[in-house]
Parts: sequence; structure tokens; C-alpha cells
Amino acid sequence: MERMVEIEQFETEELTESTLRPDAWNEYIGQEQIKKNLGVFIEASKMRDEALDHTLFYGPPGLGKTTLALIIANEMNANIKVTAAPMIEKSGDLAAIMTNLDEGDILFIDEIHRLSPAVEEILYSAMEDFRLDIIIGSGPAAQTVKIDLPRFTLIGATTRAGMLSNPLRDRFGMSFRMNFYSPQELAKIIVQASNKLDKEIADEASLEIAKRSRGTPRIALRLLRRVRDFSDVAKEPSILHERTNFALEQLGINSHGFDEMDIRLLEYLMQAKGRPMGLSTIAAALSEDEGTVEDVLEPYLLANGYLERTARGRVATQKSYEVLKFKGHNLEQSLFND
Ligand SMILES: Nc1ncnc2c1ncn2[C@@H]1O[C@H](COP(=O)(O)OP(=O)(O)OP(=O)(O)O)[C@@H](O)[C@H]1O
Ligand SMILES: [Mg+2]
Repeated sequence: MERMVEIEQFETEELTESTLRPDAWNEYIGQEQIKKNLGVFIEASKMRDEALDHTLFYGPPGLGKTTLALIIANEMNANIKVTAAPMIEKSGDLAAIMTNLDEGDILFIDEIHRLSPAVEEILYSAMEDFRLDIIIGSGPAAQTVKIDLPRFTLIGATTRAGMLSNPLRDRFGMSFRMNFYSPQELAKIIVQASNKLDKEIADEASLEIAKRSRGTPRIALRLLRRVRDFSDVAKEPSILHERTNFALEQLGINSHGFDEMDIRLLEYLMQAKGRPMGLSTIAAALSEDEGTVEDVLEPYLLANGYLERTARGRVATQKSYEVLKFKGHNLEQSLFND
């Protein structure tokens, strides 16, 4: 019984995530440089009536890679098939997907750094020559079958650009690195989403949520939903600044947008008292894998000057000390308490 409730809640959350997802170009806020360039390439390929070049988006989770792929499909009036690398186990799986594509279709592969070498291998000729070379059978009886493919566009997304092999990376005609959003951009995203949720929000409230969202739309929208819950329960017709502060405090959201892992990482560096720490040491101390530390945790801290990478390792910056001390953080205690 309880489980059903859980599943239902999960679905509702998923549903709001997809209803809040912008589907038009002008609803996609920020990433101006990417939008400018993409806009040109989209227009050019539409003028020539060609498929868009293969495109790669990379950057930390929740910055809008999938959303952008869907919007491109919309702009190109193209069908889009969405899949993720872990779902393509064998080369046959990829062949099945590819032979179902039509001219001009978009194939979106999420987590593209996770393709197996065998699958990646056949992707090369598919991307470059629009041809599948599939080996059937083995030993002396093995045969290569060539299948022509329609001109399609591959859009790949990854949080781990460093893990892409060079041959794969080189086959993308364009690649874009997603940036963190400014509080002002996030505030716009929040206001737009509140409109879709049919709930008004005060400007100060949207900016407050924005500032605490780690530069990330997904986090901003998640916080918005929670703050809206507080507002609804208080029977307030719109989301007010005071209620927002109260809700964020109740949720334990740090005013600098740090999450628990950020704080653990910074605390770990600070207790090293300026001694640079290597990636593997940090990862072990946080019980995380190195990739997550490097590609998910660090980018935000680096981009905002809380962390520095030196030749000998990572150090916390003065800004980190100020912010976490200012907050009355007792370093030793919080490090050893959990
Ligand atoms: N530029 C934007 N403008 C408005 N909303 C956005 C924007 N970018 C992302 N969002 C919202 O944030 C949510 C997360 O975005 P999305 O799923 O595209 O991120 P992602 O980069 O694909 O993340 P992941 O790496 O986890 O797959 C989406 O539901 C979307 O509604
Ligand atoms: Mg995604």
C-alpha cells in the first residue's frame, strides 16, 4: 500500500519535470552563446534542407542538455528518438535503432561516454558515412554486411567529456560545453515554471531560490516545487519572499547553493590546512568515484572560485574559508560527526 503511494509520488514528480520542460526556443533561458551558434547552424541546414551536423553537449547534470536536444528537434521539425548508452548493449541493439531511422531524424544518445567499444566502433561509420558495417558470424565464415542509413543527426550528451574517446569526439561536427546559470537566469526559469504551475511568485522569492540552486535549473525547479508546497499549505495565493526563506531554511538549503557533498569536499580540503590533495585521495575520503568528484562536484566550485586546482592537487580558496566560517561552521565537528 505504502509502496503505491511512493510510486505515485514519483510519477507526479516526473510529470511536473516534463511539463516544466520548455519546448520552444524562446523558453530556453540562458546559454546565450550556444543558442546563438546553434541558431545559425539550424537555419543553415534548414535552408539547405539537410540534416543538422552531429552535435555533442557536455557539462554537469541538470544544465539542460536533454532539453536542448528536444528543442532542436522541435526547431528542425524532426523526429527524435531518445536513448541512453547503457541501453545499447550489443552492436545489434544499435543496428536495430539505426535501421529504424528516417531521413532527417535525430537520434539522442544520453550518457554517450558509456558506450561499449564494440558499439562505438560501428557508430563511427554510421556517423561518418551513414553506413552500418556489421560483422555476422565469426571465424573464417564471418561476413561483413553493409547497410546504408538515411542522413540522420546524432545528438550525444555526457557529463564526462573527458571519458569520450578521441575518434568518437572527432566525429561530432560541433560540440558545446554547457555553463552554469546566473541567479538572474535561474530566476527567469523559475518565474516561467511558476506560470506553468499556475502559481504566482514574487520577484524576491524567485531570486532567493535562484541564488541557492547551484547554478542548475534542475535544482531550481526542484526547490520551486518544494517552496510551492509550503506556500500552498499556508494557503497563500502566491509564493512570497518570507515563506520562501522559511521553506528554504526548513529544507536546510545552504545560502551559497552548496549541497551536502560540496560542503564535505570543502571541509575535507580545509582540514588539510592548505596542503593540496590529489583527486584519488579526495574521492576515497568522500567515498565517491573520481569521475563524480571531477565532473559533477568540482565544476561548480571551480567556476565560483571556491576551489583551485594546482599541479599538486586541489586546495580550498580563501573564499571557501570565509563562507563556511562565516556560517559558523565548526570544521572539526562537522567533519567527524558523520
Ligand atoms: N535553459 C533552460 N531554460 C529553462 N529550463 C531549463 C533550462 N535548462 C534546463 N531546464 C530545466 O531543467 C531540467 C533539467 O534539464 P535537463 O534534463 O535537460 O538537464 P540535463 O543536462 O539533460 O541533465 P542530465 O545530465 O542529468 O541528463 C529540465 O526539466 C528543464 O525543465
Ligand atoms: Mg539529460
